[in-house]
Amino acid sequence: MITCTQRVLMEQHIAQLKNEGKKIGFVPTMGALHDGHISLVERARRENDIVVASIYVNPLQFNNPDDLKKYPRVPEKDLQLLQDACCDLVFMPDDAIIGDSKGFNYNIGYFDTIMEGFHRPGHFKGVAFIVKTFFEIVQPNKAYFGEKDYQQLAVIKKMVKDFGLPVSIIPCPTVREPNGLAMSSRNARLTEDEKQSAAGIFEGLNYIKNNIFSQKPEVLKEWFVKNIQNHPGMQVEYIELCDSENLTPVTEVKESASVVACTAVYLRNVRLIDNLKIF
Ligand code: PAJ
Repeated sequence: MITCTQRVLMEQHIAQLKNEGKKIGFVPTMGALHDGHISLVERARRENDIVVASIYVNPLQFNNPDDLKKYPRVPEKDLQLLQDACCDLVFMPDDAIIGDSKGFNYNIGYFDTIMEGFHRPGHFKGVAFIVKTFFEIVQPNKAYFGEKDYQQLAVIKKMVKDFGLPVSIIPCPTVREPNGLAMSSRNARLTEDEKQSAAGIFEGLNYIKNNIFSQKPEVLKEWFVKNIQNHPGMQVEYIELCDSENLTPVTEVKESASVVACTAVYLRNVRLIDNLKIF
């Protein structure tokens, strides 16, 4: 496995691989890797000649400086995990990579006004900038993103369409702990007891799924908030039922359109997001 910190060197490696006609699968990450990330790498491994991963904690997408400061960073462990998963090339740039972000004026539109977009101003613009930059450097045939970040996936798909980027976006299912908690790098900041409480998020989403045809969305959302906030230290930032394609809010359930429930929950100062396809 080759590790590269310089953009020019990365570009040289990619030029060579492209010359050889290799198909490239790409997995962008912010490190502190867990089985969710590795599931993306493994899928990329099965579907491409070459697997490229990036590790970069992108300051542009953190609207909360404390969250950026506390974001876990374990590069040696990450590199070992990527090597074990048979990754070929890892890009670990420094902050020079975001040097020309000021000129990036992409307007994300509706997705930037709801849920993550609404609660984290500037977040998706930062994500879009870094992912587009990585796509330009890595030139992947396929890029792999987790459904755990459902709205991010929607933003990336839209950006690829808007800019006409020559890459297929491959959505990958959310990997969970045995108790249902969605794996996340931020889980490293939770105690064992808190991880048990955090499993209540998935339980709540499942309650919505199991009762979607017998109770109104508003009632289910109220139940979710009450139930989560029974756990000490937990606070719901939002819970929404949305159309799974265009993410518009669903107030009346129709069996014809597929629905996803999306939520963000604070446990102390740790912000956790999760979602579940309802049908
Ligand atoms: P990060 O949170 O490190 O996630 C990297 C990729 O792993 C994303 O596509 C995310 O959806 C996926 N992922 C995270 N947890 C997962 C889980 N439990 N199951 C399946 N997939 C999971 O998302 C980012 O980084 C950044 O925004 C990035 C796209 C790298 C841009 O900076």
